[in-house]
Amino acid sequence: MMDYAAQYGKRRARLAAQMQPGSVAVLPTAPEILRNGDSDYPYRHDSSFYYLTGFTEPESVLVLVAAHGDKPARAILFCREKNVEREIWDGYRHGPEAARTAFGFDDAYPISELDTHMARILANAPALYYAVASNAALDAQVTGWIKAVRAQGRTGTTAPDTVVNVLPLLDEMRLIKDADEQALMLRAGEISGGAHARAMRAAKPGMFEYELEAELLYAFRKHGAQFPAYTPIVASGPNACILHYNVNDRQMQDGDLVLIDAGCELDGYASDITRTFPVNGRFTDAQRTLYELVLAAQDAAFRAIAPGRPYSAFHEAALRVLVQGMLDLGLVDKTKYATVDDAIADKAHVPFYMHGTGHWLGMDVHDVGAYRDVTQADKPSRPLQEGMVVTVEPGIYVRPADGVPERFWHIGIRIEDDVVVTGDGYRLLTASAPKTVAEIEAIVGTTHG
Ligand code: GLY
Ligand code: MN
Ligand code: MN
Repeated sequence: MMDYAAQYGKRRARLAAQMQPGSVAVLPTAPEILRNGDSDYPYRHDSSFYYLTGFTEPESVLVLVAAHGDKPARAILFCREKNVEREIWDGYRHGPEAARTAFGFDDAYPISELDTHMARILANAPALYYAVASNAALDAQVTGWIKAVRAQGRTGTTAPDTVVNVLPLLDEMRLIKDADEQALMLRAGEISGGAHARAMRAAKPGMFEYELEAELLYAFRKHGAQFPAYTPIVASGPNACILHYNVNDRQMQDGDLVLIDAGCELDGYASDITRTFPVNGRFTDAQRTLYELVLAAQDAAFRAIAPGRPYSAFHEAALRVLVQGMLDLGLVDKTKYATVDDAIADKAHVPFYMHGTGHWLGMDVHDVGAYRDVTQADKPSRPLQEGMVVTVEPGIYVRPADGVPERFWHIGIRIEDDVVVTGDGYRLLTASAPKTVAEIEAIVGTTHG
């Protein structure tokens, strides 16, 4: 079992070590947001705040002071005070003192004292590390703190004269997942894969898409995941060609495929899986042909994932397989293109494959971290590194159109898995979701005997 307080403390130390000596970082957690009437949306902390604290209470701000001379770096938490009345209604609050001890901060104060303390903490700090324009209310407070420090100018006190965006530093840290994070993401992948298997077992023609959504949500929660990592997509028949469909209210018909894109969030970490399967348990020839093509594209993508390979390589590998298939199957007119590369250069695939083959995955489903090295003139795709986690999600979506073979109309297929880059390749985090044609045909509908 990891020592959580120590782990978060190490992350704070790594961030502080990248800051100018004596400078100050301010990182708020996410606000609570009203849904309607007096009901809030379910509360979700800010990912970067949590990455540095492990603290999940709203109305919290982390302040880091970088080491300066012989003064060590300090981590200060501002959080809600204990409140007997509110705790009866809303639940436990650590309060500053208990939070300081449990989470290993150097100091902790009530959030109501933030303005008072910040005018002191920022005095003579050379720089403020803060993400301007993310939180309007806090932006206004920051302005107030700087004015308060400037007002002390006659005593020789100086206000920070530089504001540095702190998020890129954190994004780069978050991009490389340590062993504990990888273990958590593997568990999230196992839970989500099991949830997809559960939905497959439950499926049969006549059910509504939301009934499969219910199976997924049951399995997430049953295994301890706190939330879905994003709104589940359960898209049957023609709905599978709507990329972000999530109404999930159609009655599924015999002969339909259903595309399910759903993953849980476990202890702050996302998983992201898509499976596509026939509602009646048997692929038609046209469905199987396109399914095998997408599967082959995913296999080609996996083979392009290893440390040192550019991030873009696995998309390019998948795309080449997909476009060759589109030419072979008559989706793209092969009389117009001498080679696959010609077809890709002309974007002939875009009507059928209009998204990338993956993204970083972590605390956020589309996780933080740069995809390109912007310090170089041509901004090349960055090399993969051990500990990066990516999704691999090729697909094909065929809407009715002139010149498109009718047997493929309304078929939408995506196959999405999550992998962590290892020292010599990758490790699949989502193996528990059935995927081959044989695995899928063996499992769909088995709940019903
Ligand atoms: N579920 C969001 C995505 O696949 O990117
Ligand atoms: Mn994804
Ligand atoms: Mn997805």
